[in-house]
Amino acid sequence: MATSKPRTRVLTGITTSGTPHLGNYVGAIRPAVAASRDPAVESFYFLADYHALVKVTDPARVQRSTLEIAAAWLACGLDPDSVWFYRQSDIPEIPELAWLLTCVAGKGLLNRAHAYKAAVDRNREQGGDEDAGVTAGLFMYPVLMAADILLFDADRVPVGRDQVQHIEMARDFGQRFNHLYGPHFTLPEAAIEAHVATLPGLDGRKMSKSYDNVIPLFAPPAQLRRLVASIVTDSRGPGEPKDTEGSSLFEIYQAFASQEETAAMREAYAAGIGWGDAKAKLVERIDAEVAPLRERYEALMAHPARIEEQLRDGAARLRERHAIPRLRALREAVGLRDLSVAPAGSPGAAAARAALPAFKQYRDEDGRFRFKLVDGDRVLLQSAAFESPRTAGQRIAALRSDGFAAGDDVALGDGVAEADVREALERLAG
Ligand code: TRP
Repeated sequence: MATSKPRTRVLTGITTSGTPHLGNYVGAIRPAVAASRDPAVESFYFLADYHALVKVTDPARVQRSTLEIAAAWLACGLDPDSVWFYRQSDIPEIPELAWLLTCVAGKGLLNRAHAYKAAVDRNREQGGDEDAGVTAGLFMYPVLMAADILLFDADRVPVGRDQVQHIEMARDFGQRFNHLYGPHFTLPEAAIEAHVATLPGLDGRKMSKSYDNVIPLFAPPAQLRRLVASIVTDSRGPGEPKDTEGSSLFEIYQAFASQEETAAMREAYAAGIGWGDAKAKLVERIDAEVAPLRERYEALMAHPARIEEQLRDGAARLRERHAIPRLRALREAVGLRDLSVAPAGSPGAAAARAALPAFKQYRDEDGRFRFKLVDGDRVLLQSAAFESPRTAGQRIAALRSDGFAAGDDVALGDGVAEADVREALERLAG
């Protein structure tokens, strides 16, 4: 049951498919560690290693990445005594819940997931089988992610823009489950940190492993110097004034510098600092922040058994406290029950049926045919007039099978968003 919680729950997962880089640090680790110190928040940070398997089939890489990411978060100051810090695959209740959610997740909704759709579109363009090379893991990714989030009743999920659709899907699956079985889940909100910078990489595009333009967070000093030296700049020589606008070097500097330091660098650009000097200053500035973290990182990496122990301990406490009792209640709710106990009714299901949205067809004063889509007292859609009940019926059938697309012949009700209509149609489709 979604009872009132004393603290806001903030949860996020990190896919264990690579080595942490400066972009991860500036965009995720640093702000998350700062946020985790807020006493009004209960934080959940986990290593999404099941998600990694969707992308990575090299077991050694999954293991290495999991260790590196765990060590990086700890080195950057995450305190496993005051936040929940765990590894997804240590919580068997997550995949168990993922199955319960699979059974309420609309396949049509999953068809529209960006990552899956992009894969299908690529295949179509190449004229091959549209599902070529697409695993069911990629298709089901949003359901597993919903289980991560809903299991712990997260209120807020800090993610990048590319993940917002997944949070909306988690809301959708949670809502359907609640309709069928009673109010079990808190519906999460995506939190996009607008003030957090996305760091450009060596070539000026967003720093990302997939562009091969990253600076590893804990690169040894010599490698850091070499990589910074390879940041793309224009060809202006020393003495020529330079633009800060569009300069990745400047943007990376800014992500590490104080306001005064940034202002001084801006002046140095205007005064024609040479790129070599600017790069040396950047290396120095990054190293000032990262060197102490690197030292802790190396100490942690030297004792992987301690990290293993910490992760297992976090998961064991979290299961005891939340995951195990949660699944017990959810299993009961769906009917996976002790057979020796007389079956309880299913008020949730009956209420959900009664509360299902419905199309209402009627004849207006001038004898033409219209329909509405209603959800309880709320009018979600109002149609224009049709000449026959058959054409009105056909339009309804199209809405039911193809989903909502705005058109001249149907208008949204007052204060209704397209998303509400889609959600109602999905629910109706059951
Ligand atoms: N899909 C997320 C990403 O690629 C990682 C992730 C897995 C996640 N489960 C999550 C993020 C739950 C937030 C909440 O970034």
